[in-house]
Amino acid sequence: MEANAAATQADAKKILLSVNNIEVIYDHVILVLKGVSLEVPEGGIIALLGANGAGKTTTLKAISNLLRAERGEVTKGSILFEGGQVDRLTANDLVKQGVVQVMEGRHCFEHLTIEDNLLTGAYTRKDGRAAIQQDLEMVYNYFPRLRERRTSQAGYTSGGEQQMCAIGRALMSRPTMILLDEPSMGLAPQLVEEIFEIVKKLNETEGVSFLLAEQNTNVALRYADYGYILENGRVVLDGEAAALRDNEDVKEFYLGVSGSERKSFRDVKHYKRRKRWLA
Ligand SMILES: Nc1ncnc2c1ncn2[C@@H]1O[C@H](COP(=O)(O)OP(=O)(O)OP(=O)(O)O)[C@@H](O)[C@H]1O
Ligand SMILES: [Mg+2]
Repeated sequence: MEANAAATQADAKKILLSVNNIEVIYDHVILVLKGVSLEVPEGGIIALLGANGAGKTTTLKAISNLLRAERGEVTKGSILFEGGQVDRLTANDLVKQGVVQVMEGRHCFEHLTIEDNLLTGAYTRKDGRAAIQQDLEMVYNYFPRLRERRTSQAGYTSGGEQQMCAIGRALMSRPTMILLDEPSMGLAPQLVEEIFEIVKKLNETEGVSFLLAEQNTNVALRYADYGYILENGRVVLDGEAAALRDNEDVKEFYLGVSGSERKSFRDVKHYKRRKRWLA
């Protein structure tokens, strides 16, 4: 009974972003995404998982229309945000509509201070200084480290502070959804946790939805509601985060933990089985 009610409630959740069977080609010939579909519900944290080169960044750039700069093109399928087609919008128009991407490698303007970096995130807004100032305060409340470093040149701050600055700058555009590419990259485990905790808090308190690309399956599945696993430009598995964490293949190939008891030699011989989704 209760489970049914919960299921109905989940079904009723509005779909914010829907990516429908998209194909992406670079340089007119290199087929990288071979029919990727995914959904981000309103208020969700959705993980896009997969190894090096699986197509995570390409998927995020296809959504935020940043592919053209890389000679990439969506050649099939459609992308809808709040029910409207976004394929033809510029990245700037998308920011105005509430979709902002935090790029892989935490791009900050190195020669600007942390505060000036954050302020650049508000460039599409027309609601005046007071509102922007208020949001700056909000960002500092979520990221106290940034308040401490507000006058420091971004290029001289730590990797973690730069990642926080990149997320903070995205927040300054008052987004509905943030596309977050590899936030854990190159950061110590404790900082990774700190950043994911803030993502969770932003999601719960500010209602920001996240589509986050991560190679760090373990941490992503602890914070996300739902995940998609990409391999070679295709979604090979998707499901609730808890179900993915329990999936034997995900454990074996992405979480680096296999069965608790030690395997016998005979088992080891048969150990290199194919993933179920390739069988
Ligand atoms: N501008 C480009 N031109 C040609 N091929 C590209 C381009 N950008 C990416 N690719 C190729 O597309 C594939 C997917 O790359 P993508 O960056 O989307 O993967 P990823 O899942 O984000 O990987 P990583 O975890 O290493 O960031 C790779 O084979 C990559 O070499
Ligand atoms: Mg990437």
